[in-house]
Amino acid sequence: MNASPAAVDRPPSQVTVVGAGNVGSTLAQRLLEHNLANVVLIDIVAGRPQGVALDLAQAAGSEGHNRSIVGTNDYQDTAHSDLVVITAGLPRRPGMTRDDLTQTNGKIVIETVRQALAVSPLASIIVVTNPLDVMAYLAWRASELPPQRVVGMAGVLDSARFQRFIAWELGVPPQEVSAMVLGGHGDLMVPLPRYTTVGGIPVGELLSADRLAELIDRTRNGGAEIVQLLKQGGAYYAPASSACVMVEAILRHQRRILPLAAHLSGQYGLDDLYLGVPCRLGRGGVEEILELSLTADEQAALARSAASVKQQLQGALALLEV
Ligand code: NAI
Ligand code: 2OP
Repeated sequence: MNASPAAVDRPPSQVTVVGAGNVGSTLAQRLLEHNLANVVLIDIVAGRPQGVALDLAQAAGSEGHNRSIVGTNDYQDTAHSDLVVITAGLPRRPGMTRDDLTQTNGKIVIETVRQALAVSPLASIIVVTNPLDVMAYLAWRASELPPQRVVGMAGVLDSARFQRFIAWELGVPPQEVSAMVLGGHGDLMVPLPRYTTVGGIPVGELLSADRLAELIDRTRNGGAEIVQLLKQGGAYYAPASSACVMVEAILRHQRRILPLAAHLSGQYGLDDLYLGVPCRLGRGGVEEILELSLTADEQAALARSAASVKQQLQGALALLEV
C-alpha cells in the first residue's frame, strides 16, 4: 500500500543559531529539547560552540530527543538552514545603554547575516541581538530579503515580563494573563493595559491605575533589573524561551499573533523602521501586521518610541555601506 502524503516524513528543520553565548546556547537547548529542529550553533570563538554542542548532545538520551546539534566556526556547516537566529554580539553591561552597543553589534549582525545567507539563501531570520529594533533593520537590509522574512524578538519577551508581574500581583498562573507590549525594545516600550487581560478581563478592572503604572515601569526596566542583579551579562532564560516561541510559530506554521519587531511601511503612521507590533507569524514569516486602534496617548507613546529607534538607526546606517 502506498504511504499517504501525510505519512511521508519531511526532513527535520534545521536552525542555525549564531552566537554560542548565554542566549544562543540556551536557545539551542530549548530547540533540541522541545524537539523543534536540528541545530547548528556557530560562534567566532574556537571551541565554544563545539563544547556547548557536545554537552547538549550528551543530554539527548536523558531528555528523550533525537535531534542533532553541531557546533562550528565555519558557515559552510550551517548550509541549507530553514531559519537563522542571530544572538551574536555583546550583551549590555551595567550602566551601558542599548545605544552604546549599536556600532559594535551592528557590524557583527551585518557580517553574520551575510555569511549565513550565502549558504542558506532560503532561510528566514530572527534577530535577538541588541539594540534590537536597529539590529533587525540592519539585518533586513544586509539580507536583501523581503521584510516579512526578517523579524526581531523583543515583544514576546517584554509581554512575558508584563504577564509575569501581573500574575504575581493577582496570584494567578501566568497563562491566565494575556499581555501586550508594543514599541521599541527600550525604556520607551509601550505596555498596553487596554489590550492586556486576565482570564479575559481587562487588567485595568482588576488593578488600580497606580499599581498598574508600577508594573509597567518594572516591565520597561525588566532587562536592566536582571543586569543589575547578575552584574555580568544579561537575562537569557526568558529571552531564549521567547525566541523559541517565535521559532516554533514559524517552523510549525502556527500563524500565532505575537508582538515582534517587524518592518513598518505606513502602519501606525510609521514608515521604514523595525518596531514591535502584533503580527501573525507563520512559515513565511510575518503574514500580517495587525493595526490596533490606539488612544491618542498610546499613539503618542508609540511615536516617541519610534522616534528614538529612528534616531539610533540614523547613526547605524553607514555600517551597511562597508
Ligand atoms: P554572550 O556574550 O553570552 O554571547 C554572545 C556571543 O556572541 C559570544 O559567544 C560571542 O563570542 C559571540 N560573537 C561575537 N561576535 C560574533 C561573530 N562575529 N560571529 C559569531 N559569534 C559572535 O551574550 P548573550 O547574553 O548571549 O546576549 C547576546 C545578545 O542578545 C546581546 O546583544 C544581548 O543584548 C541580546 N539580548 C537581546 C534580548 C532581546 O530581547 N532582544 C534579550 C537578551 C539578550
Ligand atoms: C533584556 O531585555 C538585555 O534586552 C535584554 O533582557
